[in-house]
Amino acid sequence: MHNFQLSMPTRIIFGRGEVENAGAEAAKLAGKVMLVTGRTSTRKTGVLQRVMHSLEAAGVEVVLYDKIEPNPRTHTVDQGGRIAREAGCELIIGLGGGSPMDAAKAIATVAKSGHPSHEYITGNKTGRWRELLPIQEALPIMTIPTLAATGSEANNGGVLTHEATKEKGAFSGPALFPKVTIIDPELTYTVSPEYTADGAVDVFTHLYEAYLTGAEEARVQDHLTEGLIRAAVENGPIAVAEPENYEARAALMWASTLALIGIAGAGRGGSFPVHQMEHTLSAYYDISHGRGLAILTPAYFKRVAEDRPHRLARMGRHCFGVKATDDQLAAAETIERVIEWFRSMNVHLKMSDLGIARDSLLPMAEEAVRVGGRGQGFIPATRQLDVREVVAIYE
Ligand code: NZQ
Ligand code: ZN
Repeated sequence: MHNFQLSMPTRIIFGRGEVENAGAEAAKLAGKVMLVTGRTSTRKTGVLQRVMHSLEAAGVEVVLYDKIEPNPRTHTVDQGGRIAREAGCELIIGLGGGSPMDAAKAIATVAKSGHPSHEYITGNKTGRWRELLPIQEALPIMTIPTLAATGSEANNGGVLTHEATKEKGAFSGPALFPKVTIIDPELTYTVSPEYTADGAVDVFTHLYEAYLTGAEEARVQDHLTEGLIRAAVENGPIAVAEPENYEARAALMWASTLALIGIAGAGRGGSFPVHQMEHTLSAYYDISHGRGLAILTPAYFKRVAEDRPHRLARMGRHCFGVKATDDQLAAAETIERVIEWFRSMNVHLKMSDLGIARDSLLPMAEEAVRVGGRGQGFIPATRQLDVREVVAIYE
C-alpha cells in the first residue's frame, strides 16, 4: 500500500425524501444561488419544480441556468459563469446527472476567477491547465444527483468538452468538493433502462481501473473495491428491470458515490486508461460516457489478461463467481462473465452499433495518448498503451 492523504469533506445527506431539504441546506450557505440543471429531464420529472419550491420556501433567491447538455461544453459553462458572477450568486447548485453537477463545479470556478473554462481542462493545447490546476478557489457548491454513475456528487472533479478542438478533459481541485450533497435515490426512478445500465458500467469502471493497474498490495482497498463492484453487478440489472425498486436504486446510488470519492483507490495509485479512451470517444461522437466504457471494456480486458491475468482472475473470483484456479483461465472466464453482465443490461455493443467510423480511430487514438500520457495517467503497472494498441482496442 502506498502512502496517501485523503480528504472527504462533503457532508452527505442520503435517503428517501431528503430532496425536500434542499432549501434549508442551501439557506445555511447563501441568500442567492444559481441552480444549474440539464435541458429536459429535471423539468419533465418535476424534481426541478420541487427544488425551486424548497429554495423559495427557505427564502433563497434563485437564478435558474437550465442549459447543460450531456457531456457539458465549455461555452455553456462560460456563459453560466458570467451570469452567476454578474448576478452575485453565492452558491452554485448542480441538479441532475454528472453533466449538470460537473457544469456546476466549472461554473463555480469560472464565476470566481473569470478565466475561460477551456483553460482548466487537463491536456488542453494551451497548456494553461498546468498553472491553473489544482483549483484552489471557487464559489461554494452543492449537488443533488438524479442519476447513479459518476460520483461527481461528492468528489472534487469534473469533465468538460471543448467542442472546437474535440478536447474532453478533467479538471479538479480542493475547492470543488461540494459543501453538501443531497442524495435521494427516489430521484433516480425515472432514469431510463439505457442510462441506468450506462451508470452501472461507469461505477464498475471507476472501481476496476485502479484495481487492475495500481499497486499489487492494497488489501483493504481490494476488499472495498470488490464489495462495491458486487453491489453494482447485483443491483444494476435489478434497477434496469424494476425502475422503482428502492433498495436497488439506493445501492447503485451509494456505490456510485463511494466508487469515486477516493476511499476505494487511496493508497493504490494506478491509472484510468479506459476513461481516457472513452473521453476522447465521446468528445468525437457525443455518446453516453457509460456506453462508451461498455464498448471498450472487453477489448481492454483482453490486454490486461496478457499483462496482469492474476488481477483480472481475482476480480472474477471475488465479483463474478469465477471458479477456475488457473489465472489465465480465470481471466478469460472473467471477460465472459463481464460480457454476460453487460448483455443482461443490453449494453454489450460495438463501435459500429453507434455509427463510429473506422477512419476516426487513428486520430482518436492519437488524441487519447496525447492527453492521457500527460494528464490523468495512461500507464498501467506493466506498460504504457501506445497509439497502435489504442487503435487495436478501438477496433
Ligand atoms: O439531458 P438531461 O435533461 O440532463 O437528462 C439526462 C441526460 O439526458 C438524463 N437524466 C439524468 N437524470 C435523470 C435523467 N433522465 C430521467 N430521469 C432522471 N432522474 O440522463 C442523461 C445523461 O445524463 P448525464 O448527466 O449526461 O449522465 P452522467 O451522470 O453519466 O454524466 C456524464 C458526464 O459526467 C462525466 C462524463 O464524462 C460525462 O461528461 N464524468 C464525470 C466524472 C466526475 N465528475 O467525477 C467522472 C466520470 O468518469 C465521468 O467522466
Ligand atoms: Zn466514469
